[in-house]
Amino acid sequence: MSITLVAAISKNLCIGKDNDLPWDIPEDMEHMRAATLGKVLIMGRKTWESIPEHRRPLPKRTNVVITRNKNYELPKGAERFDSIDEAVEAHKDEEIVGFGGQRIFEEMIKIADELDLTLVDQEIEECHAFFPAIDPAIWRESDRDDRDGFSFVKYTRK
Ligand SMILES: NC(=O)c1ccc[n+]([C@@H]2O[C@H](COP(=O)([O-])OP(=O)(O)OC[C@H]3O[C@@H](n4cnc5c(N)ncnc54)[C@H](OP(=O)(O)O)[C@@H]3O)[C@@H](O)[C@H]2O)c1
Repeated sequence: MSITLVAAISKNLCIGKDNDLPWDIPEDMEHMRAATLGKVLIMGRKTWESIPEHRRPLPKRTNVVITRNKNYELPKGAERFDSIDEAVEAHKDEEIVGFGGQRIFEEMIKIADELDLTLVDQEIEECHAFFPAIDPAIWRESDRDDRDGFSFVKYTRK
């Protein structure tokens, strides 16, 4: 099993505003697609709902939605779990991606092997969802690709 968190985060660790992404960066969407294809995506119910209905479940990926609502209805191709632990256990032999939002990232950063991040060169005001602090005692930068206005950066557990 491997666990990677895939996220785009601003300078002030913002990941979401009004249940949407605070920016529109096509290269980041393409990066996210490439980083998640063929993998198991574990996401919170609000992140699931933030994906336009006609685009979900995200194709060629196992879409796992975490919600405490046992009656939450999902279309064919998406799975519901009560907790991250149960979802991870069910997919323990696969490549798992923590896909957000805040609660999912907060819990899964404790068990992740790698962070595959897009660091967006912006400060977002009135932010509603945040990525947890990246502790330099735990994480080391292992790869960096600087672009115009953002960077693709990978962190590996020390
Ligand atoms: N920038 C990025 O890379 C990125 C990535 C993903 C999402 N986002 C953004 O983040 C925002 C959504 O994130 P969010 O933090 O508001 O919500 P979220 O984590 O996606 O969803 C929260 C919901 O997920 C369920 N949940 C989460 N953790 C759980 C746990 N441990 N056990 C049981 N249920 C759990 C609960 O659903 P119930 O209330 O149904 O029980 C909870 O209300 C949006 O703005 C989205 O665009 C950004």
